[in-house]
Amino acid sequence: MIPRLKDKIALVTGGGSGIGRATCLRMAEEGASVVVTDMNEAGGHETVAQITASGGAAWFDRLDVADEAGWQGLIAAIRARHGRLDILVNNAGILIMKPMLETSLDEWERIFAVNARGVFLGCKTAAPVMIAAGGGAIINISSIYGLIAPAGATAYEATKGAVRLFTKGVAAELAAHNIRVNSVHPGVVDTGMTEAFLRDAAVTDRLLGPTLIRRPAQARELANAILFLASDEASYMTGSELVVDGGYTSQ
Ligand SMILES: NC(=O)c1ccc[n+]([C@@H]2O[C@H](COP(=O)([O-])OP(=O)(O)OC[C@H]3O[C@@H](n4cnc5c(N)ncnc54)[C@H](O)[C@@H]3O)[C@@H](O)[C@H]2O)c1
Repeated sequence: MIPRLKDKIALVTGGGSGIGRATCLRMAEEGASVVVTDMNEAGGHETVAQITASGGAAWFDRLDVADEAGWQGLIAAIRARHGRLDILVNNAGILIMKPMLETSLDEWERIFAVNARGVFLGCKTAAPVMIAAGGGAIINISSIYGLIAPAGATAYEATKGAVRLFTKGVAAELAAHNIRVNSVHPGVVDTGMTEAFLRDAAVTDRLLGPTLIRRPAQARELANAILFLASDEASYMTGSELVVDGGYTSQ
């Protein structure tokens, strides 16, 4: 069987843990050369080590997604090393669980810098190299909190809502260049982001809310959806939102 991402070059932000790491591992399993990026250097190197230990190809570069110069340097390095980029996963994100009245302006700006500016910079910097390569696939990680907005995380929800519609606009602009752009909307996933909540069964139950599949997702279950959107199997999907939430938003 031919690997689903054979000969593809994939860049994943926030690849040092959680959904990002699982996506790097899954894409490497399917034949991609993976550029693992994160601010967490130890985590990023560990992801690369896991990939290379199982025979895959990957390298790490430190990237703060909010830093435009950092993006430019990284894309130049990818051009020099691979001459192309086929897949971009804008996954890095932070969560601030606070109601609007308790959110400071600094917190608002910090979460927008990572979750929204980071996705903008990723698309803007990577698209030209994809255009030069004749096309590509971009997957932006939003959230169910980009679709619905329960009380208590308003700044986060605003960033994820921004990612949802930004994705559709970029899809419209890049379709003529054969670049597909889609968003993924995870429900509750068992990662570093949620571990503090998932230690307590009662809090987990509250967080799961109306989730039909009564458990948090594993990061690999998100990676499988991201892999699908990155692969040619999703060749007619762009501007779409893929919800992977165990049924949270279905009723
Ligand atoms: N875990 C969930 O339940 C859940 C639900 C919906 C959406 N998401 C989204 O999925 C994505 C991945 O989150 P996760 O659950 O794997 O969390 P995580 O905390 O395990 O991973 C996030 C990664 O992003 C990195 N990061 C943070 N700020 C960064 C920056 N400025 N530049 C580069 N890297 C940075 C962190 O170092 C970390 O490795 C996020 O966008 C998150 O909002 C997660």
